[in-house]
Amino acid sequence: MKTTINGQSFEFEPQPEETAIAIIREKAQLTGTKLACGAGVCGACTILVDGKPMTACLLPAHSLEGKKIKTVEAHPANDLHPVQRAFMAHDGLQCGFCTPGFINESIAFYEQWRREHGKTEPSKAQVAYAMSGHLCRCGAYTGIYKAIQRACAGDFDETAQIVSPRVEAIEKVTGQAKYTVDIQYESMLEGKLLGSRYANAKILSIDMEAALAMPGVEAVIDVLEDKHRVVRFVGQPILAIAAIDEQTLHEAIQKINIQYDIRPFVTNMAEALQPGAPQVYPESKKVPPNASEGPIPPGKWEGNLRTPFINHFLSKRKGKAQAIYSKAANDPALHLVERTYKTSGQTHTALEPHAAVACWEGNEKLIVHVSTQVIAPLARAIAKHFKLKKEQVEVFSEFVGGAFGAKQGLTIEIKSAIALSRHAQKPVRLAYDRMEEMVLGGYRPFTQTELALAVDKSGQPKALVAKIYGNSGVAVQSQVAPWLRFTYTGMPKALEDFDVVTNAPGARPFRAPSGPAAFWALESAIDEMAHKIGMDPIALRRKWDNNEIRPPLYDWAEKIPAWANRGPVNTSNERFKKGIGLAIGNWFNIYHNATKIELTASHKGLVAKTAAQDMGNGLRSVIAKAIAEEFGISPLEVKVEIGQSGYVEGPGSTGSRATNSVYPTAIEAAQKVKRQLISAIGVKNGRWEGAGIRHEGGYLPLALVLQQAPSIRVTTKRGSNGWFDIMGKMPSGELGASLILKMTGAVYIAEVVVDTLLGNIKVTKVWAGLGVGKITNPVLAKSQVYGGVIQGMGYALYEERQIDPTTGTLLSFGLEDYRIPGIGDTPEIDVHFYEGGFEQVKGEACGLSELSKLPVAAAIGNAVFHATGWRPTEIPMRPHLVLEGVGDGE
Ligand code: FES
Ligand code: FES
Repeated sequence: MKTTINGQSFEFEPQPEETAIAIIREKAQLTGTKLACGAGVCGACTILVDGKPMTACLLPAHSLEGKKIKTVEAHPANDLHPVQRAFMAHDGLQCGFCTPGFINESIAFYEQWRREHGKTEPSKAQVAYAMSGHLCRCGAYTGIYKAIQRACAGDFDETAQIVSPRVEAIEKVTGQAKYTVDIQYESMLEGKLLGSRYANAKILSIDMEAALAMPGVEAVIDVLEDKHRVVRFVGQPILAIAAIDEQTLHEAIQKINIQYDIRPFVTNMAEALQPGAPQVYPESKKVPPNASEGPIPPGKWEGNLRTPFINHFLSKRKGKAQAIYSKAANDPALHLVERTYKTSGQTHTALEPHAAVACWEGNEKLIVHVSTQVIAPLARAIAKHFKLKKEQVEVFSEFVGGAFGAKQGLTIEIKSAIALSRHAQKPVRLAYDRMEEMVLGGYRPFTQTELALAVDKSGQPKALVAKIYGNSGVAVQSQVAPWLRFTYTGMPKALEDFDVVTNAPGARPFRAPSGPAAFWALESAIDEMAHKIGMDPIALRRKWDNNEIRPPLYDWAEKIPAWANRGPVNTSNERFKKGIGLAIGNWFNIYHNATKIELTASHKGLVAKTAAQDMGNGLRSVIAKAIAEEFGISPLEVKVEIGQSGYVEGPGSTGSRATNSVYPTAIEAAQKVKRQLISAIGVKNGRWEGAGIRHEGGYLPLALVLQQAPSIRVTTKRGSNGWFDIMGKMPSGELGASLILKMTGAVYIAEVVVDTLLGNIKVTKVWAGLGVGKITNPVLAKSQVYGGVIQGMGYALYEERQIDPTTGTLLSFGLEDYRIPGIGDTPEIDVHFYEGGFEQVKGEACGLSELSKLPVAAAIGNAVFHATGWRPTEIPMRPHLVLEGVGDGE
């Protein structure tokens, strides 16, 4: 068959069930077209067929015959479409994995719009309607709206060079950015995991002979990581298989025979706590996976309930808080708010799935491409696990299509790809499909927080008591209590975290791990208390809050007219009720003290390197901008190379610590190089001025300096913040340090409209105030906040992880069943940064990714209360809950 792709004739012979995306990505090798959901839901695979946008994942390959196909590669860097320039200029992208699909749909929309409306700007509703078939998990919608509107209005018709705030934007809008799933090696095999069909079973036998005998099957290996040979959730990997193509893999899986001894199981918290419930870990020595980023502390088990010993030590004045609480209900001197707050699990579902491509060179050298957020520690973990020397392992992760906490550590797909490749002696690619991503890729734990707050008549806090039950499936360490502990630190508290294990996949850290659940409970209770005792919600918080960063944010919030002029609760009798709510959040100032930047100045220009990764947060741009500002040049003139473990040690993208690790380190590297360049060129009384060296004999611009000077290379290290920062002096640097006494802070206000007939909640505006020190790249910092708000909104309103209690199967296993926010859900988001307060920190900057998400759900819940008088306690606030709540009133 013949088709035309991007103006070139292309011949192909499709298999009967082959889709267009397989032809485009694998045969034409145009990997700009992305596969994310595989079900026509996310739009990442959108191509133009005779000018019309279509999802290539659903399109039969044979339907391409005779058609004119355009992929994102149709408009390369030297021939950009106005839409691509607009996406670059307005930062309509973060990780970039959804970007090619959005670009193609936007080009079709732009062409039609311009034909019909000329250079007028479409409304947001018109853009939302046109883009309704696309999803962006990073939440880049604010920039996408602006990009499409301004492209249609003609702002980008001229071909003048666009200076994007994101230095790698050009690679992302043209499809040149290579993600792990795009890596291809000659004679590469495809790998796949075969998971358990049962939620609790002992494996009795595995017969893989027939599969192994099939032509094209090159390896089948056992990957069950359980010494008791027990599978404890549906989908738990048992085998990994490598074959020449997907079709052979599927046929091979049919030929594998696994005998199970099937046992009773339990998938929800309430049933798991019943006496006599099936035990997830009946063995005396239990080895659950870890759902957190820290180590698992010792704990005591009773059936499926695990009580960490840490509960007994850390609660401030625990006995006092318990004593006050126990008599609060009958004490007329106290006000009490007592509720049980629930949250669903929230699935990360980055659009690029977990993926690894492993390639052995004999048994001596191992190259692994991985979609990871921790490239340097991962290389060490691989070397250790496979008993190799550090130098024998190289990990690459040039572009990462979203991670949000789920892509940390040596996970099963990485180990399996490496083991299969060693076995088959060929490169192996193992990428999850969307169902595997939803099952195995990770989620934020389900939580249930029984919280009581007691205050005296003057509004002074007397006790905060909370018992928190976290359901992380087979994993433990849901850890909600730390956020309650580090907020409003002056009050007596009794806080206890418990894990309840169930026969469900293990949770993983997700952007601010269990912080959003903590602030959902705490900030809902405080809002309720403020209304109960008739105090202004900000005035009450000011009274209790000893976070040093927040007062200027409270000042800012109090001046927002919509907040200052809000009316009383539930005053409207209309169907659509409007309300406004406020909540706060804290995050730690964490950094990675071992981070290094290597900066080389030569006749080729300035090149910075570090073994870090950019999962969409903009790490490259932060480094480029820090160095560029020192040299007085554009960030585009600094080449930043990351994504290779062989570079000098870089930070993991975890804990909001990447920016504040690289930023001061890059500045110091630039300053050192500048000093060395002055002495290297031998001028008298040289000093940097603008983008060059002023000296007694005149002025040398940087380009000439680099031509005349010998090549200079310096390496700088982040190190500790100073004498007060004890943890920052830790030698390993794996974990970095935390200034617990000075946390970052946020104050958020949300405005909602509640449809009391249908139960829908629409968030119309969010004011996001954050105190995170100096903002190193304002546009990208705002983009991060937009993403945090949108993910927080998904957590509050839509995202619900559901498991079938009769089979243990995940029901919300695709993006068609698991609703994440789309562009039409995006509220107007007003971001305000308070930049003071961290002068003692190197670079004066902290991270903000996690903080940006923390207050969102509670601010929305409090706005719903203001609108309706109904106090939500469970998220997501799905319509049936809203209708029940609004119907009953409070
Ligand atoms: Fe095709 Fe999602 S719509 S990959
Ligand atoms: Fe859209 Fe990451 S930028 S999914």
